[in-house]
Formats: sequence, structure tokens, C-alpha cells
Amino acid sequence: MTRSAERLVIAIDGPSASGKGTIANRLAAHFGLPHLDTGLLYRAVGWIAARTGRNPAKIAAELNSGDLADPILRGDEAGQEGSKVAAIPEVRANLLKFQKEFASKEGGAVLDGRDIGTVICPDAPVKLFVTASPESRAERRYQELRARGVDTIKPRVLAEMAERDRRDSERAAAPLKAAPDAWLLDTSDMDADAAFAAALAFIERKGFRSPGP
Ligand code: CDP
Repeated sequence: MTRSAERLVIAIDGPSASGKGTIANRLAAHFGLPHLDTGLLYRAVGWIAARTGRNPAKIAAELNSGDLADPILRGDEAGQEGSKVAAIPEVRANLLKFQKEFASKEGGAVLDGRDIGTVICPDAPVKLFVTASPESRAERRYQELRARGVDTIKPRVLAEMAERDRRDSERAAAPLKAAPDAWLLDTSDMDADAAFAAALAFIERKGFRSPGP
């Protein structure tokens, strides 16, 4: 069965440093689809709120693409601030329209985050839930931070990750959880190439063909 006529929307969820962002990026490039890293929206809202003391829901309502360009948003501090405002239902509600519009682009789209398969794109034909053991996720994040010149130690990375996982999974508003129809991909023992290959094979098994050369 091929589904070449069907709009390909790929919804990818999972915890921090599970590899979902890399998989999303590579799938988007492979299929020629636009990609939205929805975590960046929460990071931007959290970071601006922490810096200015303004109401996070208002910031979310007024967010524009210029707010997403600051490289500081990729750091762990912005991740923590993002996870705090992500628990506020009004913040989530005010970011909903932008994400839904992105997902309804004519040619399809790839979105990654925590609630893509459950809330933003419940009808996506492809849903992946990417996980990895806490140890391998912390190791990856540690290497990533070191490569960016951030001075940190592994136990601290592990502890901060556990704190964010707990906040993301226990919150009442759109907690991190796999959609019932999501395919579980554990990347603990996979490098980026192997994880991409596994995700692509799954999508092709569902009948979506890769674009020709
Ligand atoms: O890159 P990493 O996985 O570490 O984090 P992220 O995807 O950039 O997300 C930062 C924070 O935003 C997460 O800890 C979540 O609390 C929140 N988030 C969310 O609630 N819903 C999403 N769709 C995406 C992110």
C-alpha cells in the first residue's frame, strides 16, 4: 500500500535528550517537509517571562518568530524555565493555534514536542514516541553541553533532567505521555544514524514512500 496522495504529518514526542529533535530534523529534510520544534516556543515564553517578569500567558499570545532566534534558548536554563511555564494551561492554550496551523500546512509537516500526538495532531498518520534510558539521555545532554563550552558535571545534568522529566510528566495540562497509537522507539543503544533509519523504516512500513532522487 502506498499513501503518496495523503498529507504526511509526523508527530514526534518524548522526553529531553531522547533524540527526538535530531530524528525530526532529519525526517523533515528527507521528506522535504517544514519542521517545528515546539519546545522552542515554551523555552522562549519561559525565558522572556523570567527576564521581564511579564505574564507568561500574555507573552505566549504575542510570541513572534523573532523571539525564537536567540541561541540562549537552547541552553538548560531556558529549558527549565520553559518547562515551568509549560504547566500553565493558558500558556498552552495561547500557543495552540500557531502549532495547529503549522501542522495543517498543505504539503504536510513534522512537529516534535511533548503533546504533539496527543493534543496538537491527534489525527497525524505517523506518531513516534522516542525514549531512552535516563543515563543515556544525561550522557548525551552532557556531551552536547560540553561541546557548546558549558562547564557542568554529569550528576548535575542527570538531576536537572530528572527534575524536568518529573515536572513534564506530572503536570495536569497535557502531560508528557505516548499517544495510544504512537510507535515506541527506544534510542538508548542507537546513534543518530541508527535512530533515523529506524524511524524512516517505520514510516515506509506505514506506506509512505520516500521522495525519489
Ligand atoms: O530539547 P528538550 O527535549 O530538552 O526540551 P524542549 O523540547 O525544547 O522543551 C522544553 C520544555 O518545554 C519541556 O521540558 C516541556 O515542559 C515543554 N514542552 C511542552 O510542554 N510541550 C511541547 N510540545 C514541547 C515542549
